[in-house]
Amino acid sequence: MDLDKVHRFFHEEGMEHLTEHVSVELGERSYAISIGSGLLELLGTICLDVAAKGTRVFVVTDSHVGPLYLETACESLRAAGFQVSSHEVEAGEPSKSVEPLGEIWQQAIQARLDRKSLFVALGGGVVGDLCGFAAASTLRGIPFVQVPTSLLAMVDSAVGGKTGINLPQGKNLVGAFYQPQAVVADLEVLTSLPSREFHAGLAEVIKYGVIWDEALFRFLEERADEIEALDPACLSHLVKRSCEIKAEVVRQDEREGGLRAILNFGHTLGHAIENVLGYGEWLHGEAIAAGMVYAARVSERVKGFPPEETDRLIRLFQRYELPVDWSGLEWDAVFRAMTADKKAENAVPRFVLAEKMGKVGLPEEVAKDILEPAFHYGTRPQPMGLKPGLTVDKPEALLDEVEGEDRL
Ligand SMILES: NC(=O)c1ccc[n+]([C@@H]2O[C@H](COP(=O)([O-])OP(=O)(O)OC[C@H]3O[C@@H](n4cnc5c(N)ncnc54)[C@H](O)[C@@H]3O)[C@@H](O)[C@H]2O)c1
Ligand SMILES: [Zn+2]
Repeated sequence: MDLDKVHRFFHEEGMEHLTEHVSVELGERSYAISIGSGLLELLGTICLDVAAKGTRVFVVTDSHVGPLYLETACESLRAAGFQVSSHEVEAGEPSKSVEPLGEIWQQAIQARLDRKSLFVALGGGVVGDLCGFAAASTLRGIPFVQVPTSLLAMVDSAVGGKTGINLPQGKNLVGAFYQPQAVVADLEVLTSLPSREFHAGLAEVIKYGVIWDEALFRFLEERADEIEALDPACLSHLVKRSCEIKAEVVRQDEREGGLRAILNFGHTLGHAIENVLGYGEWLHGEAIAAGMVYAARVSERVKGFPPEETDRLIRLFQRYELPVDWSGLEWDAVFRAMTADKKAENAVPRFVLAEKMGKVGLPEEVAKDILEPAFHYGTRPQPMGLKPGLTVDKPEALLDEVEGEDRL
């Protein structure tokens, strides 16, 4: 779907002023992301740009999203002349696995899909990854459209073409790079997203601010009240800017040979926390929020990242009810998990580190004698254990307590 066509379409529908577009430039595999309120009702018409009338469409959703939005999506698709069938998986990470995938394969074949049919992923990242991989593998590849319904899916998982499932041995071990034909993000559906999930999605948006765009970080600081109130213009800006940044990173490095790795800022400790506590204890966004605080502390030591900027990051996480410390976790277990991470080479953990707000480097190995004190420093409740929105008067005084080997 090319962007000019998309603009023309929204112009004709009189939706131009309400809808933002981001183009993911990947040559023949390029596609457009549409962001706006009420787009679910236009899903059928939007899909007409990537599939002909009469095409069979197979919608995959989950048991939370389905009851809320499946009917609207299917009706819109039918009204546009598609032949629609659908399948609902249980909500939650366990659905991103072999058995539910097998069921989708079989049902898709029973629904007589062919190579010109269309899969539609209607849900969060779980449905997006699962349905995307079903699309990549059924009949060796059927086009698909992402309709992300969680904030995390809108700003992260629906963009970039990674699809896949988990195995009992670990997360995302089987999958494919497979780009969608289009992404349709209807901001209205965020009103039903549980607030904890919303905040977890914001952690990835904050990440884009740290790794790429200081202005986005400031926007998150300055417009927090409106963002919390789900102001459509603010949400639209956040989703659009996040998609632009991810799209640019993916354009430069689709298959994670280099630059794409900066998207892992905060993920070395984040993944280790998920691993040690068991998936599901903390949401991914929560784990990487703590992980970003840790990466910032390590960056202070290795890259001269200003400690005031770490404090700023902590305050922003607190404003959005995200965790900023990792009290209760054992260093040995976490270190083991960090070295077992698939991105650790030679059992030395690798970190994306920040030079300043808005700029990070490629992942690098960091020695244990830097990592361990930084870890212990972060297990105590952070000095900014203040009410959200309050500034810290004298962080130095609090940091003095841990001067010496404990202070980075
Ligand atoms: N492919 C990628 O590049 C990529 C990137 C990041 C994460 N992921 C994957 O994404 C998954 C996490 O995604 P997620 O956080 O969206 O999880 P999720 O899909 O489990 O959604 C979170 C919860 O919110 C519910 N939900 C979603 N949208 C809703 C809505 N509008 N209203 C009410 N409830 C709603 C879901 O049913 C679920 O219970 C993980 O499996 C992760 O590995 C993939
Ligand atoms: Zn992440």
